[in-house]
Amino acid sequence: MTTSPDEPVLLQEVMMLLALRPDDTCIDMTVGLGGHTAALALATAPDGRVLGLDRDAAALALATKRLASLGGRVRLVQASFAHVAEVAAQENVRDVAGILMDLGVSSMQFDDHERGFSCTQDGPLDMRMDARQTLTAADIVNGWDVDALTNVLRDLGGEPMAGPIARACVRRRVKALFTQTYELARVVSGVYYARGWRRSKVHPATRVFQALRMAVNDEAGELRAGLASAWQLLKEGGRIAVISFHSGDDKVVKEYFKEQCLRGAGTLLQRKPLTAGAVECARNPRARSAKLRVCQREGDA
Ligand SMILES: C[S@@+](CC[C@H](N)C(=O)[O-])C[C@H]1O[C@@H](n2cnc3c(N)ncnc32)[C@H](O)[C@@H]1O
Repeated sequence: MTTSPDEPVLLQEVMMLLALRPDDTCIDMTVGLGGHTAALALATAPDGRVLGLDRDAAALALATKRLASLGGRVRLVQASFAHVAEVAAQENVRDVAGILMDLGVSSMQFDDHERGFSCTQDGPLDMRMDARQTLTAADIVNGWDVDALTNVLRDLGGEPMAGPIARACVRRRVKALFTQTYELARVVSGVYYARGWRRSKVHPATRVFQALRMAVNDEAGELRAGLASAWQLLKEGGRIAVISFHSGDDKVVKEYFKEQCLRGAGTLLQRKPLTAGAVECARNPRARSAKLRVCQREGDA
């Protein structure tokens, strides 16, 4: 069994549930390395159009190379998916049959220590998906007060030591501002060690790094705005599939779909979210926490 960190998660399930037909128009809201995008293009051949968005220029550059052989049917645009309505209008994309959102960061972003997403590699404390944005993770840990820091770590990361970690960050930054991921990881480990924590497989700073990434990129706000705009672009009978890796994101998706169903504007394709099988999880550990929900747009109630 080979392991590929670039392997698109739940690919068969996404394609089966989106049920795209030749010449359909579809949107990949999170192109990443382009694995799902390529499958969408294949399913809509020979003349279907695929609009792909990603807020990360480096990911789009790689995807552009990988998808070059598919020609003009695939159009990739650097934009955050909260702005999908404007991008679709500019690109004259309408009557959309299928939309995919594969949330979070890609393996390429996570593994690049210069991006600062990982607590197990040293690099600048950055975490921006879009380098044009100004707010970085360093700005948050160096500038936010104890209460604001505590809230982020607890609410976005589910961090049980949110308060002590926030206070330790504030004490440390009086002496020297944080610039590197390892500096923050050491402060977090120190808080855990002081409370009797001993080594485990998961680094104690994992939740803190996840929380900061979500705050830097306003992932919750983006998801809400992206879902609402995407829904408006779907034609009647069109479907939207969302893969999430965080329980908070999955809850937002579940509730949004429920709202559409309750007002008679949507139908859920399955009651419970789909998860990856044992074979996929063994091949691709990232798939372990993935949850897929799909909803079909009906005529507006
Ligand atoms: C999990 S990866 C997608 C992987 C992709 N499906 C593939 O097959 O390679 C998530 C991607 O979504 C992008 N992303 C996350 N939030 C975004 C947002 N709000 N708008 C646009 N792109 C976003 C990230 O930059 C990342 O490249």
